[in-house]
Amino acid sequence: MAIADVSQSPIADLVSLKGRCAVVTGGAQGLGKAMVRRLAEAGASVLVGDLKIEQAEKAADEFSKRFGGKVIATRLDVTDTASIRAAADLAQSELGGLDIWVNNAGLYPNILLREMTDDVWNDVMAVNLRGVFASCREAAGRMMDAGTGGVLINVVSTAGFKGVAPGMAAYVASKHGVRGLNKQLAIELAPHDIRVLGVAPTFCETEGNMAALAELPERVREEIAATTTSALGRVGVPDDIARAVLFCASDMSLFMTGSTILVDAGETA
Ligand SMILES: NC(=O)c1ccc[n+]([C@@H]2O[C@H](COP(=O)([O-])OP(=O)(O)OC[C@H]3O[C@@H](n4cnc5c(N)ncnc54)[C@H](O)[C@@H]3O)[C@@H](O)[C@H]2O)c1
Repeated sequence: MAIADVSQSPIADLVSLKGRCAVVTGGAQGLGKAMVRRLAEAGASVLVGDLKIEQAEKAADEFSKRFGGKVIATRLDVTDTASIRAAADLAQSELGGLDIWVNNAGLYPNILLREMTDDVWNDVMAVNLRGVFASCREAAGRMMDAGTGGVLINVVSTAGFKGVAPGMAAYVASKHGVRGLNKQLAIELAPHDIRVLGVAPTFCETEGNMAALAELPERVREEIAATTTSALGRVGVPDDIARAVLFCASDMSLFMTGSTILVDAGETA
């Protein structure tokens, strides 16, 4: 089986997600919420999965009213396979299928090596790496059964390309792991017309990371600022990342799989 050649498709069709069904993990706030917005705007039906169910429901309500499509919410814990399965089942039963799965939920505690316990390491891996793996397995399995193909989009970070500020060992290791998973799953899933792509943001102001930053000592904030520079003259906003996710989800990127796209304003240049 070969991926379609869409050379003759009008641009509007290539960007459109009309008739497609998507899940966004960690979609209640921050980058994930911006992704839900762009996917819904492009015509996809979207399931917002998050631990924060009230916020997820608010986001779903906002975007279904704004764009007129189906946007629903569910409580999802990506560290729990049963919860991932329930979300995938819900997408299939309530949205009518599963074409796009965005693994965006993530943790980013800043703890220096000597203070980083095994439990902290395991907690970060359980969300950022095992949660991505388990979600890919559950989503891809359903896409294979349906025989319709699809796309898995895993949110990485510039921390998946380089070391960053002190205190981020578990985070950096987890994000390098996701980049590796993208490459491997792309090979494994290509025969099923399932593409696997990564999007790697630089620093963007979100509810989560601004709250986390506020709790860090000034010295650590300065180290983080020094390792996340923007050559483009401003700090990233969630929509900068959401537009790249839309590109990956749409047929605009149909000939791409296995790569992780840096959306980093030149940080790693
Ligand atoms: N914001 C940035 O600067 C930045 C930069 C690079 C990469 N990233 C990555 O982008 C993603 C989103 O970051 P953000 O800044 O929007 O974060 P955020 O903290 O604002 O939002 C993360 C969301 O994930 C949810 N979540 C956490 N654990 C979960 C779990 N076990 N199951 C389901 N949902 C869970 C949270 O409830 C929250 O709604 C993360 O993977 C992060 O590593 C962010």
